Amino acid sequence: MSDTYKDLMDISKRRGFIWPSFEIHGSASGFYDYGPLGKKLLDNIKEKWKNYYIQKEGFEEVKSTTIMSKPVFEASGHLSGFEDALTQCKECNNSFRADHLIEEHIEVEPDSLSNKKIEQKIENHNVRCPECGGTLGEVYSFNLMFKTNIGPGKGRAAYLRPETAQGIFVNFNYLYKYNRKSLPFGVVQTGRAYRNEISPRKGVIRMREFQQMEAEVFVEPNEKNHPNFSKVEKEELRLFPIKNQKEDKGYINISTKKAVEKNIIGSEILAYYLAFSKRILKDIGLNIQKIRFRQHLPEERAHYASDCWDIEGETDRFGWIELAGISDRGDYDLKKHAEKSGESLTAFKEFEEPKKLEKWVIEPNMDVLGPKHKQKADIIAEKLKEQDPQKIKKELENNSFILELDEETVEINSEEVNIQKTTKTIKGENIFPHIIEPSFGIDRILYLLMEHSYKKDKLGEGQRSYFNFKPEISPIDLAVFPLMKEEELKLEAEKIYEELNKEYEVVYDENGSIGKRYRRQDEIGTPYCITIDYETLEDDSVTIRQLTSGKQKRVEYKELKSTINDLFSNKKNFKDLK
Ligand code: GLY
Repeated sequence: MSDTYKDLMDISKRRGFIWPSFEIHGSASGFYDYGPLGKKLLDNIKEKWKNYYIQKEGFEEVKSTTIMSKPVFEASGHLSGFEDALTQCKECNNSFRADHLIEEHIEVEPDSLSNKKIEQKIENHNVRCPECGGTLGEVYSFNLMFKTNIGPGKGRAAYLRPETAQGIFVNFNYLYKYNRKSLPFGVVQTGRAYRNEISPRKGVIRMREFQQMEAEVFVEPNEKNHPNFSKVEKEELRLFPIKNQKEDKGYINISTKKAVEKNIIGSEILAYYLAFSKRILKDIGLNIQKIRFRQHLPEERAHYASDCWDIEGETDRFGWIELAGISDRGDYDLKKHAEKSGESLTAFKEFEEPKKLEKWVIEPNMDVLGPKHKQKADIIAEKLKEQDPQKIKKELENNSFILELDEETVEINSEEVNIQKTTKTIKGENIFPHIIEPSFGIDRILYLLMEHSYKKDKLGEGQRSYFNFKPEISPIDLAVFPLMKEEELKLEAEKIYEELNKEYEVVYDENGSIGKRYRRQDEIGTPYCITIDYETLEDDSVTIRQLTSGKQKRVEYKELKSTINDLFSNKKNFKDLK
């Protein structure tokens, strides 16, 4: 039986995409390094994603620390709420994600069950330790953050960030000022995040150190609309809403506009980012037929989210996996950070019309109070200011007001205090912006892209495998070969290599038969190979070979660069070349 994951891991290791981290010292599950090709692929995916948010949407990019002090995560709720269900084998002492052990016995998402319910399922279905078959212990919660200290000794407690988002939230005041104190604005951050997963068993799919691309969109409270919604409203989405999951009803294919009209997606703004994300993933090169949007069940939502749609991609071995989540975080994060830090993390929202605010104020009359009450006058004045002005006013109209001090009462008459009505014009109010968050996991997107791009076919005499990455995503753009290792051919090939290498990611290869060299590039998804042969020496023409078709075209050397530029910018199709 074909096992794409195994094939891909084999290619990854051999060709330098993905390697287990610190393998010579035994490695550890959940940790992977990127080799030269993996790193280039990762960067190309990131560039494409950033291009959508920064160039197209006008978001700003920041880079915050990956270690943050404990109060950040007390405020964010990760210290108390970022937990997984764990169980330990009573015999071999290995620990496991308890919810994962019961996956085949349940129809709902395992994350949605309480520890008690998981324990019952383990008991009812006689689930045993996957390592030794032993009895499993009680199910309890385990915090997924990696802990560390800042400074020597006990230092200051700190954690490795479990999401890049917190580095944006804690800088809200700077960002708000940077954006000239106006809403909405968007901020992106890409970088590493860390989660001490209990027993990651899905290879590169579940990493303990991973990379995110997150966007945080700060909007006015309960903003439902998006100014560019009309640009995405026709986009078809394959939705798997809560209702359909609960009633086992399968997907709905529906336009973004209809999904909002029918209230399947709660707001235009959430729907906008679902459709926008679909476009990004498609442009990266994922097979959109294998992408769906699944709404989180209330029980599986993160502690900060009031609604969340996961973008899931279908894999050969692991079924549907989460690639991104589009969450409505409301004002949860800013409010919590404000409460914990004592700082105001608000935006100023102007009213459509300034409002007039009437206020009664108490003004003790010291000219009368002083001579009458001597050293007690100040205490009386302070106490008076704490009273309800309307009440004093009413009582003074009848007679006098009795003020209670700590150990006595004092009778106040209308000469000793003035009660005034003032009017203040208020232009607006301080509000906590709400946050919509499209959050993407790069590593999973990279893996899925490899899987969706992985092809096998028969070319000429032999079988081959290749990645049909888009040219702008492929780690290597071009390969340049001299047909034979002859000096004249090599000199020409090197000249072309040097010229193209100024703009493109190019490899030069003169080793092995030309067929083998093509296969080598096919296997890593290089879209075009350029060969310098004997005809080049005669008429200054070279061949361009296309990865997917294996076909070759001859172009004049002087037109090579512009032809390559046209192919990469989709101005020309390979098949239309003369
Ligand atoms: N910021 C969302 C997440 O990390 O899941």
